[in-house]
Amino acid sequence: MTDITQLILDDHDGFRRQFAQLDELRDDPMQAGPIFAGLAAFLEMHASAEEEHFYPALLKKGGEEGEEETDDAIGDHDEIRDGSRRAAAAEAGSDEWWKAVDDTRAANTEHMSEEEDGALAIARRSISRAERDRLGVKFQTFKIEHPGAHGLSGEAKDPKEYIEEHS
Ligand SMILES: [Fe+2]
Ligand SMILES: [Fe+2]
Repeated sequence: MTDITQLILDDHDGFRRQFAQLDELRDDPMQAGPIFAGLAAFLEMHASAEEEHFYPALLKKGGEEGEEETDDAIGDHDEIRDGSRRAAAAEAGSDEWWKAVDDTRAANTEHMSEEEDGALAIARRSISRAERDRLGVKFQTFKIEHPGAHGLSGEAKDPKEYIEEHS
C-alpha cells in the first residue's frame, strides 16, 4: 500500500515531465496537441481524485489550516481546469492554444508547490500512516475507474460549497 501523499507527489512529477516535453514541440502541433489533451485528462483525474479522497480527509483531520489549504486548492483546481478548457476550445498549435497551455502550466506549477508545502505536509502530520495508505488505495482505484478522465465532468467547484459538503 502507498501513502496518498506519495502518490500525489508522483503525479506532480509526471505533470512536470509532460509539460517539459511540450517545450520541444513548440513547432509541432501534430504532436503537441495529443500530448496536451492527454495531460489535461491526467490533470483532471488527479484533481478529481484529490477532491474525492484527499481533501475530505484533510478537512476532517487537518484543523483550521487544513480547511484554509482546501479552500485554496479547490480554487486552484478550477483555474487549472479553466486553462485546459480554453486549450480544448482553441486550435492546437495556435497562439491562443499555447497561451492556454502556458497558463495551465503556470497555474498548476504554483498549485503543486503550495499543495506540497501546505496540504501534503499537514496531512503527514495529522493523518496516520495507516489511514494515508488506505486513502492511497482509494486514490489509485479512483484513477483506474476514470481512465482519460472518463466520467468526470471537469466542472469548476465552489470552494466554500465544497468545504461545507465535506466537513
Ligand atoms: Fe495535486
Ligand atoms: Fe491539487
